[in-house]
Amino acid sequence: MEEFSEDTIKAGLETQIIGQKIYVYNKTSSTNDIAWSLAEKHNAEGTVILAEEQTKGRGRLGRTWFSLPQKCILCSIILKSNILSERLNLLTIGVSVAISKAVREATSLPAYIKWPNDVVIKGKKVCGILAEKRRTKTGFVVIGFGINVNLDEDDFPRDLCGKATSLKMECAKKVSRVEFAQKVLLEIEKMYLYLRKGEGNLLFDEWKEMSSILGKQVRVILQNEVVEGQALGIDPDGALILRLDSGISRRITEGTIDYAFCC
Ligand code: BTN
Repeated sequence: MEEFSEDTIKAGLETQIIGQKIYVYNKTSSTNDIAWSLAEKHNAEGTVILAEEQTKGRGRLGRTWFSLPQKCILCSIILKSNILSERLNLLTIGVSVAISKAVREATSLPAYIKWPNDVVIKGKKVCGILAEKRRTKTGFVVIGFGINVNLDEDDFPRDLCGKATSLKMECAKKVSRVEFAQKVLLEIEKMYLYLRKGEGNLLFDEWKEMSSILGKQVRVILQNEVVEGQALGIDPDGALILRLDSGISRRITEGTIDYAFCC
């Protein structure tokens, strides 16, 4: 079996900031938790935490994140928040662009972005992204993502059947997690450098090209209501702009696109 370790990942890593320090855990509660405890100890921007297994992986909106040992990439990165803290949606968008590009380049699979944080292949989720900020003195944000790399169809619990997929299922062969992790970290660094230089607008063209919902009629589940309309695009902070059926445009910062209703 391929060795998934700090040494093997670093061996072919072409980044300058992200992954200068890499921790690979055999088993942990959540890589985001580890990232926060390292960030509180002033570990540097760009520190990467990976785990072979998570016992309490979490997703957006209090959901749990399903994964199986040795078959996924479960990763969190500590980034600097002084440029990004008010723009977590934009960071999520940037990471979804980076991961979609990495999937396309590594596998030639048609990866698309489903706002705000999913990477999908043929309408099924292959990756989820969770950006977190906390009121700490150190001023970091943590961006966590889970990618289904080598899961088989019967690995998924019944409630995810037909909704989730893996790279292996889509390209009918095992994918090297080491090489794919290196590619993902490189693409995330390129995107992060754009954002740091204030050139986040360069992401928008890429997002448009990779969006699975742009121009489509979608249903969005919000905290206390469900709205429907045409997805017009995203604004400079990464919020979704929806033209409601009434003709009014609405800016949506947090919500979930209903899978059953689009893509
Ligand atoms: C979502 O789609 O709701 C986001 C899922 C994010 C899952 C990843 S797995 C690595 C990192 N650690 C966690 O506990 N969550 C993120």
